[in-house]
Amino acid sequence: MNLKGVIIQGSSRSNGNTNKIVSFVQKETSFDIIDLKSKQIGGFDYDSKNKDDDFLPLMEEIVNKYDTIIFATPVYWYSMSGIMKNFFDRIADCLKNEKEIGEKLQGKAMGMISCGSDSELKKGFEMPFVETANYLGMYYLGNVHTWVENEIISESLKKDLTIFIEEKINAVNSNAKN
Ligand SMILES: Cc1cc2nc3c(=O)[nH]c(=O)nc-3n(C[C@H](O)[C@H](O)[C@H](O)COP(=O)(O)O)c2cc1C
Repeated sequence: MNLKGVIIQGSSRSNGNTNKIVSFVQKETSFDIIDLKSKQIGGFDYDSKNKDDDFLPLMEEIVNKYDTIIFATPVYWYSMSGIMKNFFDRIADCLKNEKEIGEKLQGKAMGMISCGSDSELKKGFEMPFVETANYLGMYYLGNVHTWVENEIISESLKKDLTIFIEEKINAVNSNAKN
């Protein structure tokens, strides 16, 4: 079974702080990276006006190639980024018109990495990820909150990230292998 994972980066800049964290996790996991900033993904539309943008082909690739999906988002106004939220809203397209794509999310693992300027993540930030995973029949493996000071990832944060990778991401992959 192919157990490859992907990190979906949802920052409004491709090479910002979230990308620093994503690059660290990528080196430790060898997961692929998808940068949503480089894609054309419009907001949810009841009349599917965006059906020909990059969302559906991207989602098809994700469900066919990966078993573990890690969402990496900056904290913008106490929430996930707008780019990430658009991606989540568009999952509704896979429950209505493209059901076979949506159904393939069942049983996959979802994790989340937040990147703010504050070392504290406000209560409630994680809820949309937990509940979306529940709704879609995915396994939620947890989250790690990060922040970048003076352009660097501190040694203690590197430790937190390593624990997240070893105890959450790798644990779910080794359980799936057994
Ligand atoms: C529009 C906007 C809103 C922000 N809101 C928050 C916030 O609510 N809490 C926080 O800790 N940081 C906030 N920040 C700071 C960013 O989360 C922080 O700088 C992050 O590292 C940026 O990652 P990026 O370089 O990938 O965009 C905000 C930044 C922007 C641009």
